[in-house]
Amino acid sequence: MGVLDRYYVYNDTIFGILLHCLKLLNYSIHPPDKLNNKFMGQEQLEDIEVKLLLEGVYRYYGFDFRNYALASIKRRIWNTIHAEGLTTISGLQEKILHSPECMERFLYKLSVNVTSMFRDPSFFLTFRNRVVPILRTYPFIRIWHAGCSTGEEVYSMAILLHEEGLYHRSRLYATDINEMSLRKARTGIFPLESMKEYTQNYLLSGGKKSFSEYYTAAYENAIFSANLKENIIFSQHNLATDHSFNEFNIILCRNVLIYFDKVLQMRVHKLFYESLIRFGILGLGRQESVKFTPHETDYKELENGEKLYRRIH
Ligand SMILES: C[S@@+](CC[C@H](N)C(=O)[O-])C[C@H]1O[C@@H](n2cnc3c(N)ncnc32)[C@H](O)[C@@H]1O
Repeated sequence: MGVLDRYYVYNDTIFGILLHCLKLLNYSIHPPDKLNNKFMGQEQLEDIEVKLLLEGVYRYYGFDFRNYALASIKRRIWNTIHAEGLTTISGLQEKILHSPECMERFLYKLSVNVTSMFRDPSFFLTFRNRVVPILRTYPFIRIWHAGCSTGEEVYSMAILLHEEGLYHRSRLYATDINEMSLRKARTGIFPLESMKEYTQNYLLSGGKKSFSEYYTAAYENAIFSANLKENIIFSQHNLATDHSFNEFNIILCRNVLIYFDKVLQMRVHKLFYESLIRFGILGLGRQESVKFTPHETDYKELENGEKLYRRIH
C-alpha cells in the first residue's frame, strides 16, 4: 500500500491542523510578542516549523515521525528542502501537504535505508553459535525483522537458516514503514558490485558454502535464488503506531531505534518485549541496547558486546 493509498482524508482543513499545532506549542491566547522577543532565535523558529510539519504529516497522511530524534530528522528535512528546490521548512510543509508525490519522496528521505548482507558479521557468527542451538529445540520458528529496509538482512538470515537445516520450519516476517524499500526487498535483486563485500561478510559470519551459489549474476545485478524467499512474508508495519501481529521466537530490529527519541524507543521496547515468547531472542544494532530501558532486567546478554539478548522474565 503506497502513500497515495494511505491518504487519510480528515474533515479538518489545513487551517484546522495548524490551529491544533499552535495549541500543541502553547501558542494560544497570549502569543509571545515576536517583534520584541529577542530571545527567540532562528533555531527555536526552526524547531517550531519542524513540529508543525511533522504534525501535519501525521494528521494528513498518518505517518508519525513526531518522536524521531530531532537532529537526525532536521538533517533529512533540509536534504529534502534542497532536493525539492525550496528554501524553508514551511515551504516544504506546504508542498508535502498538497502533493502526495512529494510526501512519498520525503518518506524515502526520512527512512534511512542503508543496509547490507551479513552486516556486522560477528553478530551473525554469534547468532549461528549461540542462537541456532536454541532454535533447534523449537518445532516451528517465527522471526520478525522489524525495519528490514531493502531486505539484505532477511535474505542473510534465510541463507543462514538454510545452511543450518532450519529454514523449512521457519517463517520470517520482514516489515518496514517504507513501501518503496519493501518493493525492492521482494525482488531479491541486489547490485552485483556489492557482492565482494557481502561475500567477505558471509565468510566472516561463519558461512559454509561459496556465497555465489546463492545468486545468479545478470548484467549489474545479483538475483538471489527464489527458494530463499519461500518462507519470507514482506509487509508494511510502522513501529511508531502499529501493534504486534504475532508471537515470535526471534525479533531482530537493528539500526532502527537509533533514529527514534527516548519516548518512541520505550514504546518499541515494550512492543518487542510483549511480542517475544519467554526465552525468545532480541537482536539490536551495534549502537543500540536494552540498557536504561524498563526491560533491562528482563533480558540477559547472550555474548559480551554482541547485541543479542535472551528474554528471561
Ligand atoms: C538503517 S535501516 C536498517 C536496516 C537493517 N535492519 C539493517 O540493520 O541493516 C533503518 C530502517 O528502519 C526503517 N524505519 C524507520 N522508521 C520506521 C518505523 N517507524 N517503522 C518501521 N520501520 C521504520 C526505515 O525505513 C529503514 O528501512
